[in-house]
Amino acid sequence: MKLTSAQVEQFHRDGYLFFPGVFSREEMSVLCAEVPKIYAEHRPQIVREKDGVTPRTSFAAHTYNRVFAKLARHPRLIEPVEQVLGEKLYIHQFKINAKAAFDGDVWQWHQDYGTWKRDDEMPEPRAMNIALFLEEVNEFNGPLLFIPGSHKLGVVEAGHDTTTTSYPLWTIDNATITKLVGRGGIVAPKGPPGSMLLFHSCLVHGSSSNMSPWDRTIVYLSLCAVSNHIRRFQRPEYIAHRDFTPIECLPDDCLLRDDIQVKLPVNEIA
Ligand code: SIN
Ligand code: MN
Repeated sequence: MKLTSAQVEQFHRDGYLFFPGVFSREEMSVLCAEVPKIYAEHRPQIVREKDGVTPRTSFAAHTYNRVFAKLARHPRLIEPVEQVLGEKLYIHQFKINAKAAFDGDVWQWHQDYGTWKRDDEMPEPRAMNIALFLEEVNEFNGPLLFIPGSHKLGVVEAGHDTTTTSYPLWTIDNATITKLVGRGGIVAPKGPPGSMLLFHSCLVHGSSSNMSPWDRTIVYLSLCAVSNHIRRFQRPEYIAHRDFTPIECLPDDCLLRDDIQVKLPVNEIA
């Protein structure tokens, strides 16, 4: 999937791009069928909400699930990021965020590169997220909130919040958010399953809790330019990967083909 020059320009201006309905219904059912199996596992890669039960996120499913291993090499996700960063990529992080109906908790305001720099010593913000909606994202189930243009500020001061949710995060204070929103406003891209969001690693974002009856599962590939790999290995390998092998894409129809299989580095669980 090639971005037009207008899209590249828009990305540099706003810090994100939204692509509604990129993956087909058939492809989405292949992916969605795997999610309950992953969240049913009890292993460190599966993080629960504060209640200790509700799944919050799963890390590194591409290393232990055959379908997500293919998604991690999907040209519709990889190629636009490769185009923007102008280099081969490796997977820095792979998450499936649940934001479960009624119980899915907030993700406080933050920048991803803030964490990658402070915790992982990633040299430059030459990495970004590409997200795929596994379920519809609407105004009620905790859509991602972006502050357009906020990526241009580089890394903003943040504090390490280890108490608000079950997952520690470098978060930005209310006074700074008020100032940033005064300049850029807030957007919340919404759309059907199969929609994609690409966003800059310095874009300030967050999401509120989900009090609706609808789950809001989103997969995030955090892709980093190979030469910009992390220098510090403080966090667990399944949160900040050390395999800097450049991603080679599979064919575009890989999710629907059984003859295409990826060798998994760790034991398959689902
Ligand atoms: C994130 O920013 O890492 C997650 C936000 C979300 O899934 O709502
Ligand atoms: Mn984030």
